[in-house]
Amino acid sequence: MTWFAWGEELSVGIPEFDAEHRMLVGLVDELHAAWSRGVETVALVSILDRLVEQSKLHFAHEEAYLATRGFPGFEEHGAEHARLLDTLFGFQRHCHTSPGRVFDAPQLDFLRNWVWDHIRELDRQYAHTPLTQGRAAVAVEPA
Ligand SMILES: [Fe+2]
Ligand SMILES: [Fe+2]
Repeated sequence: MTWFAWGEELSVGIPEFDAEHRMLVGLVDELHAAWSRGVETVALVSILDRLVEQSKLHFAHEEAYLATRGFPGFEEHGAEHARLLDTLFGFQRHCHTSPGRVFDAPQLDFLRNWVWDHIRELDRQYAHTPLTQGRAAVAVEPA
């Protein structure tokens, strides 16, 4: 059974960003599934590294989109991204330097809740905010 899955309730109405959110949700779920199976640390770290990289790409993409379209909550939104990245970098440092099992259930719950809350409460704000330019021209770099 899937522990964390993207659903329409998380849609921001922009297919490129929905696809990126699906990827982030999928990586958090993959991390949890691997952790639940007790896989070795190196495999967990590799999933976490992908989550960090995809988060950086997605946040940069989203911030560029919001900045160029005059989204009023742009600075607050970017600060929230920075806070999550700091937490992810902390997990990453811990994983790269600590032997043995490197996650616990509260850390995984934190990741799932943060991603859910951020998309649901903050990202969806831009889906409902009139912006200065249309939404059609979102350039997506290959991941
Ligand atoms: Fe965001
Ligand atoms: Fe997002």
